[in-house]
Amino acid sequence: MKINTIKTKAFPDQKPGTSGLRKKVTHFQQQHYLENFVQAIFNVASNLKDGLLILGGDGRYYNSHAIQVILKMAAANGVKHIMVGENGLLSTPAVSHLIRKYQAIGGIILSASHNPGGPDGDFGIKFNIANGGPAPTSFTDAVYDISQNITEYKIAETKDINLEQQDTCYMGAMKITVINSVTDYAGLMEELFDFPKIKSLFTSGRLSMCFDAMHAVTGPYAKEIFSKRLCANVGAVINGIPLEDFAGGHPDPNLAHATELVSRLNASASAPDFGAASDGDGDRNMIIGQNFFVNPSDSLAVMAANAHLLPGYKQGVRGVARSLPTSRAVDKVAESMGIDCYETPTGWKYFGNLLDDNRITLCGEESFGSGSDHIREKDGIWAVLFWLNLIAIKQQSVENIMRSHWLRYGRHYYTRHDYEALDSAQADKLIKELRAQITSLIGNNYTGYKIVLCDDFSYIDPVDGSVAENQGLRILFDNDSRIVFRLSGTGTEGATLRVYIERYISDPAQHDLETQTALSGLIKIANSISNIKQRFNRDAPDVIT
Ligand code: G1P
Ligand code: ZN
Repeated sequence: MKINTIKTKAFPDQKPGTSGLRKKVTHFQQQHYLENFVQAIFNVASNLKDGLLILGGDGRYYNSHAIQVILKMAAANGVKHIMVGENGLLSTPAVSHLIRKYQAIGGIILSASHNPGGPDGDFGIKFNIANGGPAPTSFTDAVYDISQNITEYKIAETKDINLEQQDTCYMGAMKITVINSVTDYAGLMEELFDFPKIKSLFTSGRLSMCFDAMHAVTGPYAKEIFSKRLCANVGAVINGIPLEDFAGGHPDPNLAHATELVSRLNASASAPDFGAASDGDGDRNMIIGQNFFVNPSDSLAVMAANAHLLPGYKQGVRGVARSLPTSRAVDKVAESMGIDCYETPTGWKYFGNLLDDNRITLCGEESFGSGSDHIREKDGIWAVLFWLNLIAIKQQSVENIMRSHWLRYGRHYYTRHDYEALDSAQADKLIKELRAQITSLIGNNYTGYKIVLCDDFSYIDPVDGSVAENQGLRILFDNDSRIVFRLSGTGTEGATLRVYIERYISDPAQHDLETQTALSGLIKIANSISNIKQRFNRDAPDVIT
């Protein structure tokens, strides 16, 4: 096998964001762009020479090309063994599980998560470390540093590998195993949940479900788990064939994008009882009932309150964690259970140390992400199974489970307003200005709301002492309401400003308000503090979740 050393020059924009390096496909298609970044990963993860790498992606456009490039570069860089998903497909949670199960050194995941795909869409690449979780900032910083000084990369000159069937072959000295993308993951799910109990829900006709795979990676997982192993109703999985462009859709499981699912659940006659969706790479989830939406922050709180009822969690919950912008619904549960609740910056990588150190069992984010110590990523199908198992135990609908939760703990009304494709310089300026004035806001009074705390969130990891600063501007009010402003770290076009708004109401008589109405006072305050509408000449947010 011939190894070529190719001369290249650095690209200044290879700094990984909240979740790996994410750019437009056309950007990745620039000569050497992908290769430079992959070489930088191999330089940092030099211990791959003695070990195993897991490789797969969400099947979006450029996935197949990138997989073949990475295989050839891995062989040229002396990687010992690669396990790659059939057809190059592996969900993010499946990669995390495979790394842990087979004690791999790490994994490369090709995905831009919930961003649209296709030749004009987005592509992404991220590295997960030996614990199965996203590489910490120390790793991604090192990759970035190398990418800034790179002058050459190594690649084998050899033919493409056939990824269509499970097989073992060699590329030079490197072993390549093409594995079934679903089997190991489905096995793990059977260990965590009571499959016979969930199955009886379906076989007895007590429950029908609809899972929207959004033409992304979870289709094969959902068919194997829900349809085959759990015998769910006919039509339980929709949009189940992974497509390179997600059929032109936006594979983000929320009310704005999972429209087919939502309309099925809201059709009064013949509507399934339970609805769910997952994103491009299978780590996000949305849970809905008939005409009923479960806010992801609430979902985490329900999980924390009930996990001990499920087989995989019968030891109880050691502690929980949520990202800063996630509502504090789970905090209420933790308080009543007497367990720790950690507040971390946005991004799953901050949960890794807490999980590894056995401080927490469950964690989640408002951005439709929840997970547990079973892997080191958020996990969409896992969350769906969690809810199904809970329904099987409680024999209640999604709505009734949620309502009884509010009755006991109070309700956190919650919304996120996204302003997309803003001018980046203007958006940075807004955050800078807010940061400069933030402490002076303390004590300010708005009708019914008084500010008691304002800061730019920073986090000291309690396990390794690493510090993350400037993670979001948070404003706390005396009645337990809260506003958070931050810029997205995953967008590929201009800047996205996220405004997170939360209001706590314990009185059950007020648990039936429409969310935007319940939050209208705070929405006005957020705008008067930031002046978003005038600054950016926007009438309304682009996306509301
Ligand atoms: C977004 C979400 C964040 C999540 C990340 C990756 O990041 O807000 O919670 O961890 O995607 O799925 P952001 O674009 O806000 O930086
Ligand atoms: Zn994702």
